Amino acid sequence: MTQAGDLPRAGVADSPGLTDRVLTVLRERAFATLDRAYAPYSSFRVGAALLGSDGSITEGCNVENAAYPAGICAERGALACAVARGVRSFEALAIATEANEPTPPCGMCLQALAEFAPRLTVLSVTRGGQSARWTLGELLPHAFAADSMARVHAPGGPTVRPDLRG
Ligand code: THU
Repeated sequence: MTQAGDLPRAGVADSPGLTDRVLTVLRERAFATLDRAYAPYSSFRVGAALLGSDGSITEGCNVENAAYPAGICAERGALACAVARGVRSFEALAIATEANEPTPPCGMCLQALAEFAPRLTVLSVTRGGQSARWTLGELLPHAFAADSMARVHAPGGPTVRPDLRG
C-alpha cells in the first residue's frame, strides 16, 4: 500500500476531491502493478489500484493458478489487501489492462467491491490510452447486500422460510 502523500484527499466519487491528478496517480499505479501480474494461462494481465477514503492506495494484480479456479482477479486482490490493512471505505478504483478496449471488473469483483463501496468510481484504462469511467451502481445496479437477507430472515436471525416448513 502506498500513501497518496501530498495528493488532495479524495472525497465522494465524482466530487471535486477526485481530481485528475488523483486519477492519474491511480492509473500509473494500476499499470505498474499490471507488470507484476501472474497470468501465464490467459495472458491477460490486469493491474488494479484502489483509493481508500483515507487517501491510501492499495494495488493488486491477477494471480492465476494451474488449477484455474484458484486464481484471483486484480480487483479482489487489491480489496483483500486493503481490508487486511484496515481500510474499509473506498472512493475509486483504476484497472489497467492490455485489451484494445477498456474492460469493466468481472461480476464477482463488482459484488465484492459493493460490500464496501457501493458508490465507487471505476476507471478502466488500456495501454493504448483508452479509458472508460463508471460508477459501481451503473455496473451492478442490483447488488446482493446484507439487507437482502432480511427479506428472508426475521429480525434476530435466520428462520425457516414459511414455504419450506414441514
Ligand atoms: N481478470 C482480472 O483480474 N480482472 C478483471 O477485471 C477481469 C479478469 C483476470 C482473471 C484472469 O486471471 C484473467 O483476467 C482472464 O480472465
